[in-house]
Amino acid sequence: MKKHIKHHSITVVAVLAALALGAGAFVYSGLYDIGADDPHTKLVHSALQTLRERSIHVRSQGINVPDLEDPQLILKGAGQYAAMCTQCHLTPGQTDSEIRPGLYPQPPNLAQERVDPKDAFWVIKHGIKMSAMPAWGFSHDDRAIWSMVAFLQKLPDMTAAQYKEIVARAPPDEDMDMDGDGGHNHGHGEGAAADADDHHAAAAPTAVAPLSFDGMKPGAAPEAEAVAKSFQQALQRGDRDAVLALLSPAATISESGQTQSREAYASDHLSSDIAYLKSATVTPVSQASMAMGDTAMVGTESTIVSSAKEKPSTVSSRELLTLKQHGKQWKITAIQWQSVAQSTPQ
Ligand code: HEC
Repeated sequence: MKKHIKHHSITVVAVLAALALGAGAFVYSGLYDIGADDPHTKLVHSALQTLRERSIHVRSQGINVPDLEDPQLILKGAGQYAAMCTQCHLTPGQTDSEIRPGLYPQPPNLAQERVDPKDAFWVIKHGIKMSAMPAWGFSHDDRAIWSMVAFLQKLPDMTAAQYKEIVARAPPDEDMDMDGDGGHNHGHGEGAAADADDHHAAAAPTAVAPLSFDGMKPGAAPEAEAVAKSFQQALQRGDRDAVLALLSPAATISESGQTQSREAYASDHLSSDIAYLKSATVTPVSQASMAMGDTAMVGTESTIVSSAKEKPSTVSSRELLTLKQHGKQWKITAIQWQSVAQSTPQ
């Protein structure tokens, strides 16, 4: 009996050793074609595919996803993508590039396929071995990588024209890398509003950094602009219900650096805004917008002349609305207001 087991063990060890030798000999023989123009065998391909998917998935699970709807993040991602990714991953309307036919594995067409945010973040940061996908984490911080992930969520919904437009507005790659967060003025809405507050008491109104409407064009997002107009008219009419109906439940309202929820605004500032506008004349100066898939921003500049007896004033007001499309309807998800008193010569 004992002999029997021993005999078996020897056979097993011998077979394993033979296999290992065989595998070694196979690797060394050069029989397997490593050329990118010769596809893997089915078995190798499916083993690699599973290895790749599991490896990424297991590593990406603990990653915390930031707010990918942040329009400034999406805009930044557009610039990054256009600068570094399109030869391999294409743009809306583009069917092929010079480098793609020769790549194996083939890079996915990210203008058509939407990627899981956690997996995408991990892949962009770390790259994929034995493929053309580089590890961008060597040269880009996490925020830059999240900007690409945020942009990739919108890209499959974009037309070629929308893609061109957003890229034209996006800050260039080098610029973004150098300025980090809170650098120069590329439209940190709240930062700008907070600045306005800080400077207000001390300095002349001209010292205020205005809310940035960078890259917006009149008529770029006509439906969102129409909603912005209805919203402004409802405020001026004093129609509370119509105002609130246009705000999404999670909307935030920032005024002079303070941010409120929709509820807080409804029970507090809304009434005073309505009362103020009742005694005022609003003259639109300009309106412009930009669209990013199901998100859009509308910037409106106007002059408000208030004839309130106690405190007549002329202010120039800037309003930046962020809107999101739900089905056919656009709802406002963020409002940023800034007003600068005009020195009336007299
Ligand atoms: C030189 C070509 C090349 C460039 C440039 C490149 N990639 Fe890739 N990328 C690939 C290849 C090839 C794959 C597929 C690898 C695989 O399947 O093993 C890939 C995979 C990916 C994936 C995973 C997609 C999925 O379905 O899991 C993401 C996300 C991605 N790339 C994003 C980017 C971003 C963002 C950039 C620009 C910063 C970029 N890539 C630049 C070649 C490239």
